[in-house]
Amino acid sequence: SRKIIIDTDPGQDDAVAILLALASPEELDVLGVVAVAGNVGLHHNANNARKVVELSGRTDVPVYAGCARPMRRHLVTAEHVHGETGLNGPDLPEPELPLQDQHGVDFIIDTLMNAEPKTITLCTLGPLTNIAMALVKQPAIAERIQEIVMMGGAYFEVGNITPAAEFNIYVDPEAADVVMRCGAPITILPLDVTHMIQSTPARLDAIKALNSKTGDAVHAMLTFSETFDLQKYGREGAPLHDPTVIAYLLKPELFEGRHCNVTIETASELTMGMTVVDYWHVSGRSYNANYLRSGDAEGFYALLMERLARLP
Ligand code: BDR
Ligand code: CA
Repeated sequence: SRKIIIDTDPGQDDAVAILLALASPEELDVLGVVAVAGNVGLHHNANNARKVVELSGRTDVPVYAGCARPMRRHLVTAEHVHGETGLNGPDLPEPELPLQDQHGVDFIIDTLMNAEPKTITLCTLGPLTNIAMALVKQPAIAERIQEIVMMGGAYFEVGNITPAAEFNIYVDPEAADVVMRCGAPITILPLDVTHMIQSTPARLDAIKALNSKTGDAVHAMLTFSETFDLQKYGREGAPLHDPTVIAYLLKPELFEGRHCNVTIETASELTMGMTVVDYWHVSGRSYNANYLRSGDAEGFYALLMERLARLP
């Protein structure tokens, strides 16, 4: 099975991504979950990561805390989307699963340096601060990374936190820039994809009908995010972002895109954090990403339902 580290700021959709990965042990070996500041502050995100891992019953998976703020900016958070705790909606117990003592960035570095090169994939579901800081602290990790699969950015559907930028990139554009230039293979799941993966009322009902502890929690999480997104987008369902990263690892055939150059805007205030995607290969800049632009929502939800049904 493929070895992955999940770097995350849970977040209702991050939580569903973590659950999807932990429900798929035949394909994915989750070496650790690392929290980063993003949707809310690091303390809440780390606590939420522990709650979600505990909910899955996979308490063999260690949880780490990484960076508490972006590389050079003040932290921008999204309590207006995710609630005060970052994971409003379900009523999950305070976790007993401990937070590891080691810093999350050092866990990422040590894990990559101690494994065979190109055997570990980094799944990023939040701002890229931890990955960039690991690359700064130990540049030798770059050529040891098998792949970085990230939820972030937007091109055809443009921004969700500003008109030009997607949240994960906007929060720490310098970190995203470091990552995009690192030379490791990168696959991007942007808003262009996640806006196609709508959690419609019928799909939420199906999750509720699983009639399990996890199903109830996921239903409560997505119902919470729905309330905000419905007002914002005026569509029948809300986009589901981070689980697309895990779905891509499990079933890449659900997604379509192409290799091209992606550069991050770090200078202009107006378009800060924009992912400038050379989808039509007009710049001559070398390809640094596999940029996905569409996803099969039916196939995605079939996979999600099958896997959630395995959890307690
Ligand atoms: C991203 O921002 C966060 O709010 C979500 O968890 C997702 O990672 C979507 O822009
Ligand atoms: Ca996230």
